[in-house]
Amino acid sequence: MAVITTIDDLKRLHKRRTPKMFYDYCESGSWSEQTFRENTSDFDLIRLRQRVAVDMSNRSTASQMIGEEVALPLALAPVGLTGMQRADGEIKAARAAETFGVPFTLSTMSICSIEDVAEHTRKPFWFQLYVMRDEEFVDGIIERAKRAGCSALVLTLDLQILGQRHKDLKNGLTAPPRLTLPVMADLATKWRWGLEMLRTERKTFRNIVGHAKGIDTMDSLNEWTAAQFDPRLDWEKIRQIKRKWGGKIILKGVLDVEDAKMAAEVGCDAIVVSNHGGRQLDGALSSIRMLPGILRAVGDRVEVLLDSGIRSGQDVLKALALGADGVMIGRAYIHGLGAMGEAGVTTALEIIRKELDTTMALCGKRDVADLDRSVLLVPEDFE
Ligand code: FNR
Repeated sequence: MAVITTIDDLKRLHKRRTPKMFYDYCESGSWSEQTFRENTSDFDLIRLRQRVAVDMSNRSTASQMIGEEVALPLALAPVGLTGMQRADGEIKAARAAETFGVPFTLSTMSICSIEDVAEHTRKPFWFQLYVMRDEEFVDGIIERAKRAGCSALVLTLDLQILGQRHKDLKNGLTAPPRLTLPVMADLATKWRWGLEMLRTERKTFRNIVGHAKGIDTMDSLNEWTAAQFDPRLDWEKIRQIKRKWGGKIILKGVLDVEDAKMAAEVGCDAIVVSNHGGRQLDGALSSIRMLPGILRAVGDRVEVLLDSGIRSGQDVLKALALGADGVMIGRAYIHGLGAMGEAGVTTALEIIRKELDTTMALCGKRDVADLDRSVLLVPEDFE
């Protein structure tokens, strides 16, 4: 591919260069994938108002998220197995985010450990926690995130039970991949990926390996997740985790107004309006559709971030103009990583910033802080 100008270009390269098992893990939703599809198509329903004759000479996308200065109000979302998309993927994504000036979130389900990422970066990153049945593990990992200087804990609330993703089951998703005949045939065409993997030490779940009892004997990642994740997570447990962490906390996976109110009551620095990128409750409405109602309920009490479906700077603009304080992106940067490693993540961020900046100007606004509903035409059935 000669010139890369869109996230979709990166997605095509990602598909060509990464084992099918991991590309599919990224580019899929649960069950019928209705929510996965609508997360993106609902953004297209919101239209923009073109404005003219406004001085556009000085523009800025700089902002703040939970008190941190950011080059644009966007953070890299936690993505499990990032180190399987590309060797040392978490380190590469964290470095790209740091250089660009946006937060990176390390997933509990990472290949590179908290310490690996801290060793290769200078600024603090965010750490995402999944609550496991093993409390010692949870306490231990909170301590490790504190020691590594992580500046926020992102507590994910929408995955105590895994939404079934057919592709992962059919592909027999494991990390590292089990070398079956179809996997080997696929890898033969993606030898660069294999070569890079062979050169790094980080090929397993280093982050959770002390705790990941049985990951080597389980048939699939799905089975392992079901055995490890704690299905009893409730608001009391969230309060306990908040106390143990003691720092800034972001509650991720809130999609309902009532849950948003509870999150604000428990106390948090931000919530992420998210349906996990359409990977959990299929049939749920898109995040962008749920955003206005949640903002009305808690927007004056907590910062409200949004993820699920963002593939362009225009999508970012729409979320901000509706009132979100910032966004997270998942697949958009993973496509960059799978396509071109660290440079690909930087490319994804540059594409999004340029689209945001240009769209902002054509809508007659010079600063992301000035974006409001006046630049949008929103369908009536958005909450
Ligand atoms: C995720 N997501 C996720 N979330 C989380 O809290 N912990 C995790 O380990 C993961 N893992 C993960 C893997 C993959 C491959 C994807 C695509 C997503 C969800 C993620 O943080 C975010 O909510 C979505 O990716 C947002 O949707 P978009 O931007 O991908 O459409």
